[in-house]
Amino acid sequence: MSKAQGSFDKLTTHRLREMKASGEKIAMLTAYDYSMARILDDAGIDVILVGDSASNVMAGNETTVPITLDHMIWHATSVVKAVNRALVVVDVPFGSYQGNSSEALRSCIRIMKESGGHAVKMEGGLEIKESISRVLSAGIPVMGHLGLTPQSIYKFGTYTVRAKEEEEAEKLKSDAKLLEELGCFGIVLEKIPAQLAKEVAESVSIPVIGIGAGPHVDGQVLVVHDMLGITQDFKPRFLRQYADLNTVMRDATTNFIKDIRSGDFPNEKESY
Ligand code: KIV
Repeated sequence: MSKAQGSFDKLTTHRLREMKASGEKIAMLTAYDYSMARILDDAGIDVILVGDSASNVMAGNETTVPITLDHMIWHATSVVKAVNRALVVVDVPFGSYQGNSSEALRSCIRIMKESGGHAVKMEGGLEIKESISRVLSAGIPVMGHLGLTPQSIYKFGTYTVRAKEEEEAEKLKSDAKLLEELGCFGIVLEKIPAQLAKEVAESVSIPVIGIGAGPHVDGQVLVVHDMLGITQDFKPRFLRQYADLNTVMRDATTNFIKDIRSGDFPNEKESY
């Protein structure tokens, strides 16, 4: 079956809901470029998030605040070209949806039309209710994001665990219900106590994907550069590193330099 016709096991928002209902855990990773997205999709990842964490890992910024809508569309366009099976969710960047619902709709329409992404993700609950509704009413699938929401880092002042206090936990629970009622197809919960994440996952019928939110949710997401050990200086407790690509890549580079200096590369077989 051709890519244009689609394939039977293509991940859809509907399929994610079925996975939750049947207790099949959802695997999600970030990607920002064609080559990485191709590897993750070939490996069978369910959801690829074109995260605004591109601001940190691709552009070297301290926060996700500076990344623009044009940057996100550029990253998402590269990812979409590589993907055959995964659902591609694109982060709506800071400053392109908080103003009002018309701005949110305009931004999300640009993402969908220009990148070919399948869904968008926005940070927040009640505060952005109108924006979420307006985007959903245009037929664009929306994923929510609660708990530690990095676009608000200057309000929080720190990247520590959120919603440890009763009041914030209650607001998070009611925001999660609201996102479900509005029609979001899923929610990311970032860096909150595992017990609270469990309560939220049990209280809604849409999939809840955790990052630093413990095991009792419907799936997990990590930033791919952290998971592969490319990132050096970010090792939070919730991160499991599945490879040490930093060492692999550094050693390969050192060997390349050595072979050039010694005249070993290129050899006869590598020449025309
Ligand atoms: O931008 C991102 O990578 C994210 C994940 C941390 C969920 O939003």
